[in-house]
Amino acid sequence: MTSTRSSQAPAPLRRDYPAGSLAFPHRDLLGIGQLERHEILYLLDEAEQWVQLNRQSTKHSDLLAGLTIINAFFENSTRTLLSFEIAGKRLGADVVNMHAAQSSVKKGETLIDTAITLNAMHADAIVIRHGSSGAVELIASKVDCPVLNAGDGQHEHPTQGLLDALALRHALRERGHNADDFTGLTITICGDILHSRVARSNILSLTALGANVRLCAPPALMPAEVEAMGATPFDNFDAALDGADVAMMLRLQTERMEGQFIPSAREYHHLFGLTKDRLNRAAPDALVMHPGPMNRGVEIDSEVADMLDRSIITRQVEMGVAIRMAALDVLTRKARGVDGWGDRAPGTSGGGQWV
Ligand code: CP
Repeated sequence: MTSTRSSQAPAPLRRDYPAGSLAFPHRDLLGIGQLERHEILYLLDEAEQWVQLNRQSTKHSDLLAGLTIINAFFENSTRTLLSFEIAGKRLGADVVNMHAAQSSVKKGETLIDTAITLNAMHADAIVIRHGSSGAVELIASKVDCPVLNAGDGQHEHPTQGLLDALALRHALRERGHNADDFTGLTITICGDILHSRVARSNILSLTALGANVRLCAPPALMPAEVEAMGATPFDNFDAALDGADVAMMLRLQTERMEGQFIPSAREYHHLFGLTKDRLNRAAPDALVMHPGPMNRGVEIDSEVADMLDRSIITRQVEMGVAIRMAALDVLTRKARGVDGWGDRAPGTSGGGQWV
């Protein structure tokens, strides 16, 4: 790979999108559910330039120089927190991390007072992870800058949905598929669908991009509304995997479970764990995905997670940085005075649109 200087960052992929901010007319990124299909594609295409930059020896741009980004994480994270931090720094921003465990939240400060405090520091973007569904939207309504949802309760994890789509696009492209969208592809998502914000964001993004989405879980871990979201429910993993092009495995979210949802991890693995034998039921070259963190030996066996020709789990992590760079770039264009990304429409509140 050759090295690059900040002024030589690769150009973004260009398609026929609406001009300027009409390509992505949102102040915040709260969920895939707020996005049109072309807006999902816009973020994926914007991320391509950052995939290239991140693979070069010098990974730096000055695009966000002078901007301050606050990562406020009220729940644990490895991938999302680090990749947002790396994304902001690679774009030249000043990045500050607030861990709830070491903050005044522990002294009883409310979420709204925390939001007002962050706002008073004139952040240019705030990235939030919170254990309560809707908490990120609440903060967005209290602050003046763009807010990015890094996972809120059981609701959404939009950058995970986007990075999964980008990882899949790249893996399919390498296999010779024309994979800018996923029309005709069958994707099986298996695991704790009920508690999973990753599942929700992926169902929304993958169906918007044309995929047939199958969901598989024990009945107690399958929410009621999945068919209304365009997905097909299964409680038999072998049937759900039959001929699938992709197996996306999810962890049991024990931290969100009240009561016992499965008899034992051993029985869960027997019925819903992805083993090498079980993978043979999918299409011959089916891809394996997992958002992490993995519980090896429960929802996925190590010999499957580590299959070099099938598993794209580390690729998902790689794409996470690029997607988060794209999201930070796009959402801060107004603050940076980028042509065509004008003033906010009068009277709109948090989550409103730019005009
Ligand atoms: N996939 C994901 O959100 O991982 P982290 O919890 O480590 O951020």
